[in-house]
Amino acid sequence: MKVDIISIFPDYFAPLDLSLIGKARTTGTLQLAVHDLRTWTSDVHRTVDDSPYGGGPGMVMRPEPWGQALDAVVSDAATLVVPSPVGKPFTQADAQQLAGLDHLVFACGRYEGIDQRVIDDAADRMPVREVSLGDYVLFGGEVAVIVILEAVTRLLPGVLGNADSLTEESHAAGLLEAPVYTKPQSWRDREVPDVLRSGDHGRIARWRREQSLLRTAGRRPDMYAAYSPEHLDKKDRKA
Ligand code: ADE
Repeated sequence: MKVDIISIFPDYFAPLDLSLIGKARTTGTLQLAVHDLRTWTSDVHRTVDDSPYGGGPGMVMRPEPWGQALDAVVSDAATLVVPSPVGKPFTQADAQQLAGLDHLVFACGRYEGIDQRVIDDAADRMPVREVSLGDYVLFGGEVAVIVILEAVTRLLPGVLGNADSLTEESHAAGLLEAPVYTKPQSWRDREVPDVLRSGDHGRIARWRREQSLLRTAGRRPDMYAAYSPEHLDKKDRKA
């Protein structure tokens, strides 16, 4: 997958050299390039922002550098992703869809956002997704891009050693995952649940399922309510 990131703070993306994203870049699974938006400015101050039409606080990113940057970076296969507090909430399903695409271009807004015409102009030429990480406001899109890229990269073929991790994990099946334990068996007088040491795979699977349902109902009633009833069998209802 090809990924281009456009930002006024390219240094924010240094962590993308590390860990499994770094490895995906080394192996070529992820071809990532970070671009400084100011490359596409033409004045001596390399200005990227100006005051908003209609008044109000803060500054808005000017359309010209963004237009040129996108013209230089997008391909016929590109999807533009714009992290923004006014975007649609980003979910695991979105991560899965993005992981199936060939070329993602991320536009990192700062200040009060990017002039709307940049997004409207891009949308005439390519799929555009404005996505929000949650109902709070960050300084800019940079951290959101790192989050989205983590969620997407781990779904690319070959990135995770054990592909089962992807089917078993929280959100994969619309439920939160059950609690997990490792050695030692006893720690600060707290024991690993007996069932997990029973070797009875049927019992373990039932226990995990029950824990998963209890957790989801307690912590994410919204998710639990949306969980399709045909997936709940009689045993689950008793739990
Ligand atoms: N940029 C600023 N706030 C954001 C948010 N909540 N999600 C995504 N991008 C953002």
